[in-house]
Amino acid sequence: MCPAGSFMGRWRRAGVLALVLLLLSACHGRREFSVKNHGQSLIYDHTLAKTIVEYASAVYMTDLTALYTWTCSRCNDLTQDFEMRSLIVDVENCLQAFVGVAHNLNAIIVAIRGTQENSVQNWIKDLVWKQLDLSYPDMPNAKVHSGFFSSYNNTILRLAITSAVHKARKKYGDIGIIVTGHSMGGAMAAFCALDLAIKLGSDNVQLMTFGQPRVGNAVFASYFAKYVPNTIRLVHGHDIVPHLPPYFSFLSKLTYHHFPREVWINESDGNTTEQICDASGEDPNCCRCLSILSLSIQDHFTYLGVDMESDDWSTCRIITAQSVERLRKDLGSNIIMTKHGVEVSIVENSMQTDWSSSR
Ligand SMILES: *[C@@H]1O[C@H](CO)[C@@H](O)[C@H](O)[C@H]1NC(C)=O
Ligand SMILES: *[C@@H]1O[C@H](CO)[C@@H](O)[C@H](O)[C@H]1NC(C)=O
Ligand SMILES: *[C@@H]1O[C@H](CO)[C@@H](O)[C@H](O)[C@H]1NC(C)=O
Repeated sequence: MCPAGSFMGRWRRAGVLALVLLLLSACHGRREFSVKNHGQSLIYDHTLAKTIVEYASAVYMTDLTALYTWTCSRCNDLTQDFEMRSLIVDVENCLQAFVGVAHNLNAIIVAIRGTQENSVQNWIKDLVWKQLDLSYPDMPNAKVHSGFFSSYNNTILRLAITSAVHKARKKYGDIGIIVTGHSMGGAMAAFCALDLAIKLGSDNVQLMTFGQPRVGNAVFASYFAKYVPNTIRLVHGHDIVPHLPPYFSFLSKLTYHHFPREVWINESDGNTTEQICDASGEDPNCCRCLSILSLSIQDHFTYLGVDMESDDWSTCRIITAQSVERLRKDLGSNIIMTKHGVEVSIVENSMQTDWSSSR
């Protein structure tokens, strides 16, 4: 019998057992000795979060022409003065991202959208079994989920984003970079922020994610906290996704482990409070205090009152391809007049196309 197979079988059985234990223990069986200071964070800024969530929402829009010109229905309000610089679409993998400059924040914004090929329900079910199957390069003992990592690292995203950030900084100087994403887009945003922080320095990079799943183990989380200290993970009420893949306090070295810092939007009895959680990444008094049975998918789809789903739930690949086609037509017939040259990078069937409107 294949040893790897039997190992996996055992891992799965251990997982089932652990899940059952978790269900039984819910909030009460905590066995860890974590410091319970809800450290007063200097970096959480509610007003900034209200703005950044709008970027994380806009990257879900499927009309690429409206995104390109920043005229989409979610492209206004607090993000009005955004200067789109690069629109990145991977049709094959159903990924989308943009890079631009928020002049009111004097910052470069990187927003990433994950795949929505399968129903979110299925995606969430699969998350329970995601394995820590990749050693993060140059970080001994740091393990991550290879799917999230390679969606950023091994697609057009990494190259296109880093190059767009580089060009924006050439034009505007060494302004800060804020990376954002919701759900799987948040997981990819985390890898992007880490990549940029290693390249450009931790002081230059800020990460703010919404409803982000866990992406790596405890060792990875501590490296992450060192490289990207300016990190905020917003968790809305009973959103189930940040609870996955599972973390078990009694196996805290072996399971997935969040990096800090969570800000939990605690909604109870009509009161909403934003609780800034401790520096452990797994503050037992924040969203983890909820009973696992009370978790829901509902809270995953709105953050700070903003819609966090795609405006079209049909098969992602088809929608994306149609949208690419339309953008191409619009670009070809010069319908679009932008103040600035916007770079468009599109990957279809593993073939890369690049347009750069003149600059
Ligand atoms: C990440 O991407 C780089 C190239 O962009 C590649 O050389 C490297 O092997 C990738 N890392 C992993 C672990 O796949
Ligand atoms: C969440 O908010 C409610 C109502 O404001 C409060 O009673 C409760 O203690 C809060 N939960 C935690 C874990 O702080
Ligand atoms: C909700 O907030 C109000 C006003 O701050 C307070 O009076 C009330 O006690 C809170 N309710 C709960 C359940 O904490």
